[in-house]
Amino acid sequence: MRVVSGIQPTGKPHLGNYLGAIVNYVKLQEEAHANGGQCFIFLADLHAISMPHDPAELTRNTREMVATLVACGVDPAKTVLFNQAQVPAHAELQWLLSGTARMGWLNRMTQWKDKAGKNREGQSIALFTYPVLQAADVLLYQATHVPVGEDQKQHLELARDIAQKFNTDFCPEDAPLFTLPEPYIPPAAARIMSLRDGTSKMSKSDPSEMSRISLTDDADTIMKKVKKAKTDAEPLPSEEKGLEDRAEARNLVGIYAALTGKTPQEVLSDHGGQGFGAFKPALGEVLAETLAPINARFLELKDDQEALDAILARGAARARENGLPTLDATYKALGLVRG
Ligand code: TYM
Repeated sequence: MRVVSGIQPTGKPHLGNYLGAIVNYVKLQEEAHANGGQCFIFLADLHAISMPHDPAELTRNTREMVATLVACGVDPAKTVLFNQAQVPAHAELQWLLSGTARMGWLNRMTQWKDKAGKNREGQSIALFTYPVLQAADVLLYQATHVPVGEDQKQHLELARDIAQKFNTDFCPEDAPLFTLPEPYIPPAAARIMSLRDGTSKMSKSDPSEMSRISLTDDADTIMKKVKKAKTDAEPLPSEEKGLEDRAEARNLVGIYAALTGKTPQEVLSDHGGQGFGAFKPALGEVLAETLAPINARFLELKDDQEALDAILARGAARARENGLPTLDATYKALGLVRG
């Protein structure tokens, strides 16, 4: 079992990152550790330069993201925790795979279409080739499990397509080079939505702080944001199908379910018939309880720059070593001479 996943150090990580991905980094870290596998979690800092950014902010966010991940339970003793910028093999493998990835595949990526909008000509090349770097990230370590939220599913399908085409074009049939990675997506929290609009996903780039719960919000802020979350005026239904046309209600029930390990139907069996005046404080409490220890640990870690940099340096050394055999084999399969 090889677990690999990444998170961009852009802005503060939020509840969507936590429930959609980070919770499963920790779950799969424990599984991999128990069964002799390996877990690799990295900060996708090379991806972060595909959009306009402030260099000083990227540096600060990178360290804060390490502190957040550790505070959430990613354990550098069990997981190889690092940033892409210290492992050149990611960028190298991206170039090697660029000969295999097709323009048409990248043109179909919904994230590219959404982010570029009508101004494709004005976008960085990095934003367009972003998914090839993401494919390199996982293929470099022969990932089997990739814990992500729903929004990354298409990028992982592309990684599989690239792997498959490379294997077919350059490897003997009985000795494929790349393992096809499987996305690992949580059932209730695959797509946590904005608290202000149940039709758009919770995101670091939303200008409104009220649209998301940051993992470092304190209990008062959490309660305030939950109480102000957009909802309709109806009480909660007692059956899940009653949520079908109620995006905001469905989102809050989904968050409650993910936090308590229940299914949305179980949450409705307990809270069906309740108005939001009662449900929101219950949700705010569960949220504050879950995030309080993360917040406390984050505050302890965040200013120890030396310790955070040491975690990344150690992780990067292990990542370089682990990625080397696949990188070498890729050069070789392509017929490139390297002395
Ligand atoms: P990023 O930094 O946008 O998000 C990190 C992780 O959080 C998940 N996520 C969500 N899940 C549920 N609901 C939401 N509202 C929500 N918002 C974000 C994302 O699905 C992701 O798992 N391209 C990636 C980073 C990356 C990567 C990789 C991931 C680079 N290389 C290789 C996996 C494997 C990204 O920008 O994630």
